Amino acid sequence: MIIPATQENIARAASVIKTGGVVAFPTETVYGLGADAKNPGAIRRIFEIKGRPSTNPLIIHIPDPQYLNLAVELPERGLMRDNFEKLRRFWPGPLSLVLPKRGDIPLEATAGRYTAAVRVPAHPVALSLIQASDCAVAAPSANRSDYISPTTAQHVAEDLGDKVDLILDGGPCPGGLESTVLSLIEDPPLILRPGLVTRETLESVLGKVAMLHDFAQRTPAPSPGLSSKHYSPRTKLVFDSDIPAELGCAQAGLISFNDRLGRIDPSRFRAHIRLSLSGDLGEAASRLYAALREMDEKNLELIVIQRCEDSGLGLAIMDRLQRAVGK
Ligand code: TXA
Ligand code: MG
Repeated sequence: MIIPATQENIARAASVIKTGGVVAFPTETVYGLGADAKNPGAIRRIFEIKGRPSTNPLIIHIPDPQYLNLAVELPERGLMRDNFEKLRRFWPGPLSLVLPKRGDIPLEATAGRYTAAVRVPAHPVALSLIQASDCAVAAPSANRSDYISPTTAQHVAEDLGDKVDLILDGGPCPGGLESTVLSLIEDPPLILRPGLVTRETLESVLGKVAMLHDFAQRTPAPSPGLSSKHYSPRTKLVFDSDIPAELGCAQAGLISFNDRLGRIDPSRFRAHIRLSLSGDLGEAASRLYAALREMDEKNLELIVIQRCEDSGLGLAIMDRLQRAVGK
């Protein structure tokens, strides 16, 4: 059930979380599917509802950096502590930090790992909900596993419907892409998933930062959620350089980042969405998932998407698109 995120309804959602229920709520990135991080039964329900592989750990949300020890144990001194201190100014914000988990966070939440990803979301509804719930809130994105992450309450309802106890509607998520996942366990710190906080920004603060390119070849994979097929619409999705010769564009939709379309003629497509007229990647990121879902509803044979630059915010966008096309 979708309910508006009024103070009264946030309090109601918090009592659902306190009693072991599962609530969808907005963050500045995408909608999350939250439960008490210390309640193994509630955590198991998150995995069931999403159809999520039990090997893929959840992100734990806290209301303020001072509550870090609700989720993780950060040593008083040393490199991990120094790096954390340099990064805490990104909170509240779209940066999830992987640190040694606290003993009482159940292994269900971390998919058997002794580390946990933790963040403080920069969204007033998410923050009030977590505060009122009086616990750390474990929350993956509120979509069916492998489908596109939800950026509106309606997306959550379409995907998960009545399986969740409540959906708090706080309007569209401003960021539209997931948080950056950065492991502080490794030296140098390792980006496990590029996101809204860019690699360049992290490097300017930390110096050297490594990037997980070849996750498939590492066993165990440092971040099991990074399967190569993810974020995919049901309709076949290809980059504009890979339009199959046998398919015309009459039954295809085009998603472009800007108006520089080269040899592509948008009038040949049945539908066209421009993510940003000015070519602004922040605006494009905020609209990307809704655009993929909108195209997916049109019963097209093909969705064609332009590539964008592979740096700054473009790194996270291209990461998601590469997974969505399954390459
Ligand atoms: O923006 C976001 O991060 C959103 C909102 C709701 O906060 N959440 C989100 O969660 O995107 P999810 O479950 O869709 O993605 C979590 C990612 C996965 O790639 C997972 O493997 C990684 O974080 N992760 C979580 N805990 C980890 C850990 N202990 N070690 C390595 N990777 C971890
Ligand atoms: Mg997800």
